[in-house]
Amino acid sequence: MPVHLITGGAGFVGVNLARRLLARKEDVIAFDDLSLGHKEFLKPFGNVPGFEFHEIDCSAGGAFLERARAIHAQKTITDVWHLAANSDIPAGVKDPRIDLARTFLTTFETLAVAESLRIPRLHFASSSAIYGDVPDRAIAEDLGPLEPISNYGAMKLASEAQIRAAIEAGLERADIFRFPNVVGTPATHGVIIDLIRKCRKTPNGFDVLGDGTQQKAYLHVEDLVDAMLFIAEHATGRYNVFNIGPDDDGITVKNIAETVRDRVSPEAEIRYGQGNKGWTGDVPRFRYDTHKLTALGWTARMGSTAAIVRAVAEIADQEAAR
Ligand SMILES: NC(=O)c1ccc[n+]([C@@H]2O[C@H](COP(=O)([O-])OP(=O)(O)OC[C@H]3O[C@@H](n4cnc5c(N)ncnc54)[C@H](O)[C@@H]3O)[C@@H](O)[C@H]2O)c1
Repeated sequence: MPVHLITGGAGFVGVNLARRLLARKEDVIAFDDLSLGHKEFLKPFGNVPGFEFHEIDCSAGGAFLERARAIHAQKTITDVWHLAANSDIPAGVKDPRIDLARTFLTTFETLAVAESLRIPRLHFASSSAIYGDVPDRAIAEDLGPLEPISNYGAMKLASEAQIRAAIEAGLERADIFRFPNVVGTPATHGVIIDLIRKCRKTPNGFDVLGDGTQQKAYLHVEDLVDAMLFIAEHATGRYNVFNIGPDDDGITVKNIAETVRDRVSPEAEIRYGQGNKGWTGDVPRFRYDTHKLTALGWTARMGSTAAIVRAVAEIADQEAAR
């Protein structure tokens, strides 16, 4: 029976992945330093057999390796899902050391754990940010040279490279998932929760970062986890790299802001900023080529617009209940 270690297990994607694995009656060990994740997200798993949570900093060796080793001695860990990272992009723009520690060093130390305990499979949450600003074509996995334009993207790309090297050094298998923007609950960060919080705070009007023309692909977290599990099950290589996303042109920030306004405060004025970037390192427009994943047999149930409409409703409910 598989036993799963999830780094970043108290975060948005981690909680959704844990729920799916536990529903399959498989064991889940969640590691998280709670820098961005929340213990309350784990409450639904409190009494679920096979679930355990450990507050651990995965960017430093010592305690991380020792705790994993102790668990491994009790139940053999078969899969590591490495999701721990800095998802607070503005914090990483202000201080690149945050991306270095939370996004790269967590990967470095997770690989050290996998190597030391001989855990056969590693699954990694990478990002479209590794591709940089490529506005003029649909991006396939073999695009190169890769030129990320954010610290976060740079540290994700460095993580991929470190994992590739680990395959050469003996790691049995690695799946690299290049996520698009992912939406749903429990939301911890991202454009929807930012806009909903602003709109709830000042219901007469709210500001949007950039001019609203940024256009990107969005995937609902339910589809994302489905794709991760599908790739883990069906890809046959030792090193598998997949774009995960809907097969569409995405949706603009203007459309998202209007969806939020209509749901939260229909009379609110939307005030747009200048330029087509929300922040330093923001990629204004990207479109994925998802042929590789389609050929493997998986397609998203929800396109970008459906994912946004559903997530806005879910996150508005989440925020109203806070
Ligand atoms: N959500 C998205 O749109 C998106 C897009 C592309 C890639 N990703 C990647 O997917 C993964 C999950 O993202 P998410 O949206 O769930 O973000 P999240 O912030 O909700 O989850 C990340 C978790 O990692 C934890 N963490 C950070 N540093 C840590 C450390 N040193 N030790 C232990 N835990 C640590 C945080 O506390 C948090 O719970 C991340 O690797 C992220 O970069 C997410």
